Amino acid sequence: MSDETGSCAIYPSLRGRSVFITGGGSGIGESLVRHFCAQGSRVAFVDMAVEPSRQLVAAVAAQGHPEPLFIPCDLRNVEALQAAVEQARDRNGPIQALCNNAGNDDRHQTADVSVAYWDDRMAVNLRHQFFAAQAVRPQMKALGGGSIINFGSITWMVGDPDCPAYVTAKAAVYGMTRALARELGPERIRVNCMVPGWVMT
Ligand SMILES: NC(=O)c1ccc[n+]([C@@H]2O[C@H](COP(=O)([O-])OP(=O)(O)OC[C@H]3O[C@@H](n4cnc5c(N)ncnc54)[C@H](O)[C@@H]3O)[C@@H](O)[C@H]2O)c1
Repeated sequence: MSDETGSCAIYPSLRGRSVFITGGGSGIGESLVRHFCAQGSRVAFVDMAVEPSRQLVAAVAAQGHPEPLFIPCDLRNVEALQAAVEQARDRNGPIQALCNNAGNDDRHQTADVSVAYWDDRMAVNLRHQFFAAQAVRPQMKALGGGSIINFGSITWMVGDPDCPAYVTAKAAVYGMTRALARELGPERIRVNCMVPGWVMT
């Protein structure tokens, strides 16, 4: 685990903010957890990787930042995700920011893709983003607004040939973001798609 939060700017509006992060146990999600905690936000995160997630909670607490809540969850199980959102609200207050970060870019070729594998890739890279947004929406609406950040990918823009199911799911994240932004915008819920560059995780 790295700790790159030492010299970050402080944004007072993030202090005390209730933030829910998917896939927060490692990679980009770990950095999101560390940085929101360094801002004094109240963070809950879900991940299926239990041990690194527990280590992250301990490391953040050791730095004197607010301890994040880790909820073990396989996001392919939508009911478990919905329960995690409620658990996060009970501990941190209504969720004000959702980072739909979890994903997996397992390499594959078209000829090798079964129906089960296709469905699994959609469940890992697309479906949970929609249902997380659906689950936090009433909380954000009651608060008068919120922010949903969906993690996309440049792979569909460049036509990456190494993982067509992942590329399809990430292209759908972009379309989903535009549809939700229109629907939730009048409730002052911003919905954006974040497209990272190449990050070695
Ligand atoms: N790293 C990059 O270069 C890059 C580029 C473009 C987009 N992205 C996107 O950014 C996001 C984060 O990428 P990353 O590189 O940190 O990924 P990563 O694989 O390093 O980490 C993903 C995290 O999500 C968790 N996760 C995966 N599937 C899960 C599931 N079913 N249930 C619960 N947790 C699950 C993993 O355990 C892990 O902690 C992803 O959506 C990815 O598609 C990454």
